[in-house]
Amino acid sequence: MSLNDALHWRYAAKRLNGEQVPEETLERIMEAARLAPSSFGLHPWSLVHVRSQDLRARLHEDAAPQPQVIEGSDLLVFAVHDRDFKAQVDEHVAHMAHTRGVEESSLDGFRDMVKGVMDQKGSHEACLEWAARQAYIGMGVALSAAALEKVDASPMEGFYPDRLDKALGLREKGLKSVVIMALGYRDTERDPGAGRAKVRRDREDFIYTIE
Ligand SMILES: Cc1cc2nc3c(=O)[nH]c(=O)nc-3n(C[C@H](O)[C@H](O)[C@H](O)COP(=O)(O)O)c2cc1C
Repeated sequence: MSLNDALHWRYAAKRLNGEQVPEETLERIMEAARLAPSSFGLHPWSLVHVRSQDLRARLHEDAAPQPQVIEGSDLLVFAVHDRDFKAQVDEHVAHMAHTRGVEESSLDGFRDMVKGVMDQKGSHEACLEWAARQAYIGMGVALSAAALEKVDASPMEGFYPDRLDKALGLREKGLKSVVIMALGYRDTERDPGAGRAKVRRDREDFIYTIE
């Protein structure tokens, strides 16, 4: 199946049938999220995988009251690292030097440039906003990977981030949720959205070609 076929097949399922996504399939979807690009490669977000039905039931009750949360097989939380951003740059540079087998000092120019961009952003909140945009790229990649696997992915912004972070102990890990996604299989009988025509901007209203 081509990616475009998969994107036509997918929709944001509102009702899921409880069937489990196989472990290897789930791993491939999460690995796709890990491979998503980010600005400067800083990767200022992580994935929190919630599998337990009990925990999802508690989240559903208190923090994320949409049926996909409990009817899905797994819940993915895309969470930004809410920590000093310049320290994150230093960690990234050290990781990059180690991975590529180069001296850290050879990356000093890069380090200074990224920190300069952070100074331009002007505040921790602006950096968090920018980090959230990177997490959304990961969400899009994971959603597309799921579609290629014929797994339904329901992205959700309709939840209470503070409550969810508390329930999952994310603050203690320096994390802050920005968007969540249930994975599972559509329940076509109960889902009013199943089979509905996809609504997108028409091509001419979407692509502005400037010669
Ligand atoms: C970032 C994001 C957040 C969303 N939040 C919710 C949500 O909280 N609840 C929900 O039912 N659908 C949610 N959706 C699904 C959208 O409503 C859906 O993707 C959109 O209507 C397009 O339809 P389709 O994805 O089914 O093709 C969200 C989608 C995105 C991309």
